[in-house]
Amino acid sequence: MNKSFHIKTYGCQMNFYDSTRIAELLKPMGYYESNLPESCDLIILNTCHIREKASEKMYSDIGRLSIMKQNRKKYGNDLKIVIAGCVAQAEGKEILSRNRDVDIVVGPQTYHKLPELLKRNEKLVLNDFPNESKFDFLPLINKTQSSAFVTIQEGCDKFCSFCVVPYTRGAEFSRSVNEITFEIEHLILNGVKEVTLLGQNVSSYHGMYRSKENKSKYSLTDLIQHISKIEGLQRIRYLTSHPSDIKEDLIKEHGNNPKLMPYLHLPIQSGSNKILKKMNRKHTKESYIELIKKVRIARSDLAISSDFIVGFPGETNKDFEETLEVVKEINFASSYSFKYSPRPGTPASLMKDHVEEETKTNRLQILQKELNNQQEIFNNSFLGQKLSVLFEKKGKKTNQFVGKSQYLQPVHVISKQSIIGEIHDVGIYNKTSHSLHGNLKI
Ligand code: 5AD
Ligand code: SF4
Repeated sequence: MNKSFHIKTYGCQMNFYDSTRIAELLKPMGYYESNLPESCDLIILNTCHIREKASEKMYSDIGRLSIMKQNRKKYGNDLKIVIAGCVAQAEGKEILSRNRDVDIVVGPQTYHKLPELLKRNEKLVLNDFPNESKFDFLPLINKTQSSAFVTIQEGCDKFCSFCVVPYTRGAEFSRSVNEITFEIEHLILNGVKEVTLLGQNVSSYHGMYRSKENKSKYSLTDLIQHISKIEGLQRIRYLTSHPSDIKEDLIKEHGNNPKLMPYLHLPIQSGSNKILKKMNRKHTKESYIELIKKVRIARSDLAISSDFIVGFPGETNKDFEETLEVVKEINFASSYSFKYSPRPGTPASLMKDHVEEETKTNRLQILQKELNNQQEIFNNSFLGQKLSVLFEKKGKKTNQFVGKSQYLQPVHVISKQSIIGEIHDVGIYNKTSHSLHGNLKI
């Protein structure tokens, strides 16, 4: 009899990508994917460790699953619980000791061993950094939409003082150009039109390209140029970059490559040089502003998005004001902002001068008001204009389809025929809080 599994994914796009690969690992074992966790034989939580709230959420979800498992036991049925992802990496055995109903704990670099671990039918923790690359053991992804993620790089050597990533995902590692190209070609055969190249720090990508004659190291720009030649691939995005790694060649590529979408997610974190230094960010407010100016010269319509942390240790009102000033100077199309959350093992968690929770909350509110305002202005500027939209799925209403513009905005249209997988020019006539609405006939 076939068994069913359900994966709940927390956190970033890398985790969502990993979840699709975990799903492909389980299918040859006779498991099928289900959206009904209540009736599944196996539940996997693919967890995030970046802020405290994300880890807490995982523990409360384990509590609920534990009750489910106990109830099933009464009727002689079982539920296997697997904890994967960055909390699994960071807390390992601790998870098993906090809840005995968890069966397997597996880190982001070892989940390719999951089929083997499931067969062993015992409590196991596997969260080391193995010598082999998991990518050599993963089956290709078959279930796809018109847009897909492709991990090109993992881990981080930057060691920003607030961040757990260098500890949970390990040292920077770039997949080879050949491997990435093969994966993208496979996705294209499955109907994919757009890929987002993923990594904690893709701007420092340095993968090998092997041809018959020789082998050479490729930068992110080289990789983008290489995959641009793949027939059928129409749109390329990349995520996330570090301001100190964006060099002239990538800036130029934004101006020259029509497949590279005019959207750049470039975390600044703070607008105060004092705080940036304490964060070990390796860029200043001035260098960030200068970089944005340069990219905007190369590609005038580039949409910029960013990440912000408020209430980092030692952040004064004056530091926070400086962040607001930078925001006003740059004008972001979208952004993500967070209250600083001390993470175990990071240098910032040991710093003095932690900011009061109430101050963090107030600052976040003020910052988000300004950022939402900028997003609103950006989206309003397309009313009466044309956007190029790749349609990905059906909307909630009859004959409604939803896609993403070149600037990553969700766009809704009505069409009697399915337009999933197609790119159309859309005339924008209306806007709701989260999306734009348009007409196909313009
Ligand atoms: N506290 C709050 N936000 C954090 N981020 C990373 N670590 C922390 C932390 N300890 C944010 C950063 C990063 C994004 C992915 O998450 O803004 O760019
Ligand atoms: Fe974390 Fe900094 Fe690396 Fe980004 S660049 S993953 S914030 S350490």
